[in-house]
Amino acid sequence: MPKLTYCGHSCVLVESSRGNVIIDPFLTGNPKASHKPEDIPELSAVLITHGHADHLGDGVALARRDGAPVVATFELATLCQQQGAEAVPMNIGGVAEFAWGKVRLVQALHSSSVQVGDSFVYAGMPTGMLYTAEGKTLYHLGDTDIFSDMALIGRRNAPIDVALIPIGDHFTAGVVDAVEACKMIQPKVAIPIHFGTFPPIERDPQEFARQVADLGGKAVVLNPGESYEY
Ligand code: NI
Ligand code: MN
Repeated sequence: MPKLTYCGHSCVLVESSRGNVIIDPFLTGNPKASHKPEDIPELSAVLITHGHADHLGDGVALARRDGAPVVATFELATLCQQQGAEAVPMNIGGVAEFAWGKVRLVQALHSSSVQVGDSFVYAGMPTGMLYTAEGKTLYHLGDTDIFSDMALIGRRNAPIDVALIPIGDHFTAGVVDAVEACKMIQPKVAIPIHFGTFPPIERDPQEFARQVADLGGKAVVLNPGESYEY
């Protein structure tokens, strides 16, 4: 049974018999982070949905520490490689199998760049990530608005055992649209992310959970540091 631990904002650590994988490891500078980078166990891979600092975070440092590859779009993975990380450049639609599990990149409706001084370096398209280990699939939506092809992603990759859905509004979908995303994706369990870290994204995750339950779905609200087995 894979176990995910919510580390705050959009960061999740997934531990399974296949290995440990972290997604969007924004820990340093994250006021809601439950973990410091040194608290993160040895990783097999670092998955990064897009280049924004609240997702790339400590990704390069953790990848270098453990000799684990960064898995991301071609541009973002290559940028990480230039900073000394191993990299697996992929792109949207692509599936890759590794000893530690299977990854598929899917679209997200957002932007993606890495800020360097006063400039923004293009980091490829923003993505969502599907990660399968022990036969269980987790869909991390990254930062995104809703889009109707979420239904296609849900159907083509069914069953989605867990979906991590941004609810914070302002930069991504808010609560009402996150519920609509849930309706389209049909995950067994929805977990809200990307809220409460900074004032513009203060939202009530319990309101999301109530609305998902009203539709007959299941949402689990995790505080940073809490885990869920799926
Ligand atoms: Ni972003
Ligand atoms: Mn973000």
